[in-house]
Amino acid sequence: MARRIAIFGATSGIAAATARLWAKRGERLVLLARDAEALDRLARELAAKGAQVETTRADFADLSSLESAVSQAWNAFGGLDTAFVAYGFLPRQEETEKEPAALEEAILLNFTSPAVLANMLASRFEAQKAGMIAVITSVAGDRGRRSNYAYGAAKGGLQRFLEGLRHRLHRSRVRVLDIRPGFVSTRMTAHLPQAGALWATPEQVAPSIVSAIDRNRETLYTPRFWRAILLVARALPNAIFHRTPW
Ligand SMILES: NC(=O)c1ccc[n+]([C@@H]2O[C@H](COP(=O)([O-])OP(=O)(O)OC[C@H]3O[C@@H](n4cnc5c(N)ncnc54)[C@H](OP(=O)(O)O)[C@@H]3O)[C@@H](O)[C@H]2O)c1
Repeated sequence: MARRIAIFGATSGIAAATARLWAKRGERLVLLARDAEALDRLARELAAKGAQVETTRADFADLSSLESAVSQAWNAFGGLDTAFVAYGFLPRQEETEKEPAALEEAILLNFTSPAVLANMLASRFEAQKAGMIAVITSVAGDRGRRSNYAYGAAKGGLQRFLEGLRHRLHRSRVRVLDIRPGFVSTRMTAHLPQAGALWATPEQVAPSIVSAIDRNRETLYTPRFWRAILLVARALPNAIFHRTPW
């Protein structure tokens, strides 16, 4: 039976690459995003690959619209098996240090909105006693660093939120997956220098996301080598950490 998967932030580079893999399996996809044209283009592409596709426009910065977005996603195919929350926003760190509004926006899109959304999804999955909520956080959430601690704090807060949500939903047999990508070449990172072995493409990380959801995993570092890097980065004593440039 084709699975019913809602993708919140479907036009994201990582989400679109993941959706292409699901489309090839003939899954039933509900795509939610704010850019109507990009949404239609992606929907046509995924339908041509074999998916059944429904679309809904959504601005995830508008918290008052989230319940309606969840409701439309839920009703498109009469319930959901998986909710994949992919939207996010990489702020300019210097701006978040000087402009309270920039910090507020970073926290809104990377923590508050996905947390509110996940809670709304949780109530529905809980009643159904089955399903998976998979949310993209980031390796940036594992330790605060001078170069991106506003984004990192929001993603780190989201990691902790998902940990608690997983605890809450365990008895209802609803699974919660925290996806922590490293550096991935997408529109979000297009302004950064992308040379080096640490960078991956969305096509490289997408199979690991599909597999982690299939296997009901709890935390995914992708590509995998980031688990080891973060193990070291988290363990580094401050005396050494404070001398690092990043
Ligand atoms: N790329 C990386 O290196 C990296 C690393 C770790 C974690 N991540 C996380 O991975 C996720 C996907 O990002 P990506 O790398 O695939 O970048 P991306 O292609 O730039 O995707 C970001 C997505 O968020 C959407 N978005 C932002 N604000 C929105 C709003 N108010 N309403 C609706 N949609 C909104 C964007 O919509 P539009 O298409 O309309 O702009 C876009 O589809 C994000 O949560 C990001 O934080 C990325």
